[in-house]
Amino acid sequence: MKRVAILISGGGSNMIALAESMVGDHPARPVLVVSNEPTAAGLSRAARMGIPAAAVDHRPFGKDRAAFEQELLKPLLAAEPDIVCLAGFMRVLTPAFVSRFEGRMLNIHPSLLPKYTGLHTHARAIAAGDAEAGCTVHEVTAALDEGPILGQARLPILPGDTAETLAARVLPLEHRLYPAVLRRVASGDRGRLDL
Ligand code: GAR
Repeated sequence: MKRVAILISGGGSNMIALAESMVGDHPARPVLVVSNEPTAAGLSRAARMGIPAAAVDHRPFGKDRAAFEQELLKPLLAAEPDIVCLAGFMRVLTPAFVSRFEGRMLNIHPSLLPKYTGLHTHARAIAAGDAEAGCTVHEVTAALDEGPILGQARLPILPGDTAETLAARVLPLEHRLYPAVLRRVASGDRGRLDL
């Protein structure tokens, strides 16, 4: 059974979709949820699901990412994860941290990568006049949002869409895509999935 740790910063709806999928004959189980935001709603939601949950506030470390990551590593390494899923985790990780989990750290990003790395993805897709938007699950590498793509799900951008209406339609797609990709990765399948 593969052990999965999930890093969050906010509501944790992707974390919940992942955790709820890891039941029955699924080859993985959630072993830890960590948030850099101590008040993240996802922490209490994880605890209610019986998943060990921890907070490591980034603020006391200021701009010292390495010091924050040393603290983040403590609960993470103690949980001995085989796979680490970033699920709305909004801190940029240093190459040194990423290299510890090379090939076994996944992220979900709300755009059709390689388009729109970083923030405000839906607003940028609309402003560019794109016909489609969506989400991507990829391996995390040192380059932000640029690791190998494991899966994508897409939908049309509708006339009158705003960043908010688009985000509200893409989020349920994320909840389908991420568990589907995690299941494949946990089974040893790195083939690309398109929904
Ligand atoms: C999701 O839309 C996820 O794709 C995005 O944050 C949201 C988290 O929602 N992630 C990023 O923008 C990463 N750069 P959730 O906390 O409800 O899962």
